[in-house]
Amino acid sequence: MKLKRFKNYQELSGFAATDISDAIKNKPSLVLCLASGDTPKLTVELLVKKLIEEKVDHSKITFIGLDEWVGLPPTNTGSCHYFFQNKLIEPLQLKSSQYFLFDALAGDLKNECVKMDKVIDERKGIDIMLVGIGMNGHIGFNEPGSSFDNLSHVIGLDEITKSVGQKYFNEQVELEKGITIGFKHLLNAKKVFLMANGSKKAEVIRTTVEGPLTEDFPASIMQRHENGFVLIDDEAASLLSKLH
Ligand code: PGA
Repeated sequence: MKLKRFKNYQELSGFAATDISDAIKNKPSLVLCLASGDTPKLTVELLVKKLIEEKVDHSKITFIGLDEWVGLPPTNTGSCHYFFQNKLIEPLQLKSSQYFLFDALAGDLKNECVKMDKVIDERKGIDIMLVGIGMNGHIGFNEPGSSFDNLSHVIGLDEITKSVGQKYFNEQVELEKGITIGFKHLLNAKKVFLMANGSKKAEVIRTTVEGPLTEDFPASIMQRHENGFVLIDDEAASLLSKLH
């Protein structure tokens, strides 16, 4: 794990967007897994802008959505599907054969997981994975206690996730379960970016970087990834006990 510190959210997002865009230039068939949410929002916007303005060939990339709230239709503006549809898939005009999102309304959610694992395995793993961190240390819906050996799976959501998650919705929604890419795929990913900005993430960043490596605090898995980068702004770095 390596730590990279930036002055602010803008710079942090710019770094990630440039890195991913360069990676696509070097490997047009890049397999990219992204989280939705407030943190990666600007990176996704900057990445799309760069790819379009610089006419980078993105016709061969594979895009994978990290997770989804079970039971929500893609039309719900708080769903991960809606986020990616509007911010990435439509602007880049990705073909349906190029992107893979969990269908959170599927009758057989286990099969959704099997299908996603197959997509990843057939492409020999994820090249770049960009994730955020929840206020309970989760990554995607790998909630506290999730095994580091998990493939894609469905999980009952932690109370913190249920309450913090309301911020994505215009009205109160019932959030009970999530479907998510598991940590086995994260550990196998060739590069992982975990991003955090703002003082509200300072405590979880301290635990991620300086706390014990434990399934009780999911983001600590970053300590195990040799090509894992924790990208933070000064505010999110404010509780670290030393310069890393
Ligand atoms: P956020 O979500 O980027 O909206 O803070 C992070 C997460 O819960 O993974």
